Amino acid sequence: MKVAIPKERRAGELRVAASPETVKKLKALGLEVVVESGAGLGSSIPDAAFAAAGATIAADAASALGDADIVLKVQRPLLSGEGQGTAVGDAAGGVNELALFKKGALLFAILNPHNSRDHVKAYADAGVNAFAMEFMPRITRAQVMDVLSSQANLAGYKAVVDAAAEYGRAFPMMMTAAGTVPPARAFIMGVGVAGLQAIATAKRLGAIVSATDVRPAVKEQVQSLGGSFVAVENDEFRQAETAGGYAKEMSDDYKRQQAALVAEHIKKQDLVITTALIPGRKAPILVTAEHVASMKPGSVLIDLAVEQGGNVEGSKLGETVVTANGVKIVGHANYPSRIAESASLLYAKNLLALLTVLHDKDKGVAINWDDEIVKAIALTRDGAVVHPAFAG
Ligand code: NAI
Repeated sequence: MKVAIPKERRAGELRVAASPETVKKLKALGLEVVVESGAGLGSSIPDAAFAAAGATIAADAASALGDADIVLKVQRPLLSGEGQGTAVGDAAGGVNELALFKKGALLFAILNPHNSRDHVKAYADAGVNAFAMEFMPRITRAQVMDVLSSQANLAGYKAVVDAAAEYGRAFPMMMTAAGTVPPARAFIMGVGVAGLQAIATAKRLGAIVSATDVRPAVKEQVQSLGGSFVAVENDEFRQAETAGGYAKEMSDDYKRQQAALVAEHIKKQDLVITTALIPGRKAPILVTAEHVASMKPGSVLIDLAVEQGGNVEGSKLGETVVTANGVKIVGHANYPSRIAESASLLYAKNLLALLTVLHDKDKGVAINWDDEIVKAIALTRDGAVVHPAFAG
């Protein structure tokens, strides 16, 4: 069976869906691996490193994909008319990547289907069996394949490093002969995987860290990392977690109470990192324009939820906004791609773990459609949309 790793062609995507290490392991499973020339460049992996690991290098997307049984990608393939041929060496105008797939091919990627329903139908029409890696269930067996976690962890780290770079003062308290530099105060809003790493990173850099979340389980985690916890802890808060461990949408009343608490706290903060998401929904606004207006000049907000609509009022996708009172609101798109080398290595490992589970020594990679993992991530099967959220 042949596994293809094409170059990512969407704007700003520097990651790649394989590493030399995973290529070696895919080969050890008995799979043939073909990597499109230049696929690893954004993550500092030259073709030669993939070739040394046993991959064949294909000159272009068509020759990589044409007879591939399995396609590993970071982002969903381009369709005709999307016109985002922005990878190094690509002509503007782009290609219809999906049209290059063989019928019956298996596609594994972060497919973002809630925001691209047309694509889901297109996979079915093309006879491509598509699997959305971000739908990986949060069960122990699948932890090693959990792309949301592997990428969010790095995003949380990188957000703090970016905040430090934007910030004109020091993070740690410094007592010097010339005087004392006060420590920075960092407030992390939303303490999932990204938020926990942001707390740990800000703490390591010497900031005084506080954090908030709507899920009660988080309080102890924040405190164990040396942060203080800030939240309205009423009955609604005590029940705000789903069985899957995700947040629920909170009532307007709760949001009002929480906003009042945040209003007092945020005035004293130098750095705010927001990471709050609700799966399949627009991100909740946690920082209002009034909150931002109350902050000191030079303060920095990083909105990690900007692609889902943003947690900070006034954040703009792909831009750094400087407000009238001198506060920076940073809205970088695709955070994991800002730390592409590490993100690619972990993402590639997530994919390898999945293919290893699906692999059978006699049949090669074979899909057991009754497996809990497959059921959760499968969008299409043999020409039909099968995921309940998109079928019909
Ligand atoms: P996420 O990316 O969906 O959301 C980030 C955070 O924002 C969450 O902690 C959420 O509670 C919070 N949030 C949502 N609305 C909010 C609001 N209005 N105000 C404040 N905070 C708000 O979350 P992520 O990173 O996916 O983690 C969710 C949970 O899943 C965590 O408990 C995590 O530890 C757990 N998890 C479990 C895994 C497993 O069992 N295999 C793997 C990875 C994570």
